[in-house]
Amino acid sequence: MKGIVLAGGRATRLRPLTQITSKQLLPVYNKPMIFYPIETLTKAGITDILIIIAPDYSGQFLNLLGTGEQFGAKFTYEIQEEPRGLADAFIMGEQFIGNDNVTMILGDNIFDYDFTNEISQFDKGGLIFAKKVPDPARYAVVEFDNANNVLSIVEKPENPKSDYAVPGIYLFDNKVSEFAKKVTPSKRGELEIPDVYNQYLERGELKVKTIDCEWEDAGTFNSLLRANNYWAKKIR
Ligand code: TTP
Repeated sequence: MKGIVLAGGRATRLRPLTQITSKQLLPVYNKPMIFYPIETLTKAGITDILIIIAPDYSGQFLNLLGTGEQFGAKFTYEIQEEPRGLADAFIMGEQFIGNDNVTMILGDNIFDYDFTNEISQFDKGGLIFAKKVPDPARYAVVEFDNANNVLSIVEKPENPKSDYAVPGIYLFDNKVSEFAKKVTPSKRGELEIPDVYNQYLERGELKVKTIDCEWEDAGTFNSLLRANNYWAKKIR
């Protein structure tokens, strides 16, 4: 299993904080945000990790993270010139993924969860996660049956069919790069990740696993503050 941390983007919602640095370099209690998704991967046994960053502040990522040795891992870097969307990670990462499976995590997604079992047991197809939230309409909402087969996934639905959001960590086999290449840009001009996992869904190869844990997508002022408070309380 290879790993990808997607840590580019514009981070417009965190301006002016992100006018002077990258979102994923901002502190979450006692370390830069990107440490959390990296450690989510390494804790689960993934040591070969591609880090995708934006051109701005790319040198700071290299200074901070280096070869990956301090994490017991090997890091490779790619620069995403434009934020073309989450699915672009699988196109940029095609050679890196090679014949392996891949776990992709978003650089601003912070989990207090150990994915070791899910990652070590993953064989083929796609696996996404479902986390119960009070405000599903803000997220991609997944509807599934008792056998954890996905029935539908709808991005920011007006009438959510469940209370389960899809967090930013995804496991795929190496068909993912081919599937990503078939995706066309959405109205907002991005290659959207639901267009990738819906191709697994159409083939009956998409599974979902519910997780019950602290999860923060730290891309807004309030979620960033919540993440800081949670980890301060937990670590202190
Ligand atoms: P988002 O939070 O959707 O986008 P953003 O970080 O640019 O922020 P904003 O909406 O405030 O402008 O991105 C989720 C994660 O994915 C985040 O870690 C940035 C990363 N990302 C990329 O690396 N490349 C991309 O093309 C996009 C869209 C996001």
